[in-house]
Amino acid sequence: MASSTVMLELFELMKRVARTDASILIRGETGTGKELVARALHTLSPRSEGPFQAVNCATLTPELLASELFGHVRGAFTGAIRDRQGLFSLAHGGTLFLDEVAELPLDLQARLLRVLQERTFVPVGGTDPKNVDVRILAATHRSLRREVEARRFRADLLYRIRVVPLYLPSLAEREGDVEALAWHFVDELNQQGFRHVERFSAAARNALLAHDWPGNVRELRNVLEYGFAVGQGPLFDVDDLTPELRGEPPPQSPHDLPKVASPGVAERRRLLEALDSSGGHRGKAAELLGMSRTTLWRKLREYRLHSHTDL
Ligand SMILES: Nc1ncnc2c1ncn2[C@@H]1O[C@H](COP(=O)(O)OP(=O)(O)OP(=O)(O)O)[C@@H](O)[C@H]1O
Ligand SMILES: [Mg+2]
Repeated sequence: MASSTVMLELFELMKRVARTDASILIRGETGTGKELVARALHTLSPRSEGPFQAVNCATLTPELLASELFGHVRGAFTGAIRDRQGLFSLAHGGTLFLDEVAELPLDLQARLLRVLQERTFVPVGGTDPKNVDVRILAATHRSLRREVEARRFRADLLYRIRVVPLYLPSLAEREGDVEALAWHFVDELNQQGFRHVERFSAAARNALLAHDWPGNVRELRNVLEYGFAVGQGPLFDVDDLTPELRGEPPPQSPHDLPKVASPGVAERRRLLEALDSSGGHRGKAAELLGMSRTTLWRKLREYRLHSHTDL
């Protein structure tokens, strides 16, 4: 979903490059839609009937990642009680998406390179090579060139996985897209039936357009979701925006509050402490406080504490 020239050009390019088996490296800041683009490339490709498998290279230890990618044979290591297929097998005939590829440890980079060159791989602890017919898509928020310079990424692997580089612009670079995407998400959220938004007030619209969106499309979606949760009625006004978007200073930390407190201040402090210990997670904070999520929402709004939650 987009209307900016950069994005429309990107969609055209995606259609063309999706047809081949060329490896594509998608680069973009957090929340710009890298995963969405990877899935779209698979759907647009001749492999669309085949499987799409994804792995986040940043979230697994090197050992687990190796077994996740290549699978293992029974007895390969303690706990390997039976053979297990890896993602290369599971993605056979389809697409494998390597997310956060810059985080791939160097020894796995070497193994991956071998797979891409020889089109075969050996499961962890195994001896028989298996054939691979997999198209590789990868994504990163880093400059891989800089990672190569810092010797954290192999240059030969870079050339293999970046036959076609796709750059996803940040939302701030996408002229006209804040508004187009805002309406896209409003339509989507309207369908959920909790609230039906028909228009934005001029002030709300201006605030959305003036914001610099460091969290990109994901942040925009979250801001609208927030507005749907806390506000009501067909007019989406500035009150429905997060304090940050309204240009208000962030709420005080519990330590700034006076020691002897009125009931309201004490409750506010309890809310803050619960949010602190739950790491900003609303559901957990509500549980800690023994209140429903809805009550917590109302109170957070009352005390203007929304920005403390993980929206
Ligand atoms: N053009 C778009 N139209 C509609 N929704 C979008 C668009 N781009 C991104 N999104 C939505 O924004 C959110 C973030 O997208 P995605 O997960 O693909 O980002 P990402 O670049 O992979 O982020 P990260 O680096 O943090 O993993 C998702 O909910 C996705 O559906
Ligand atoms: Mg992602």
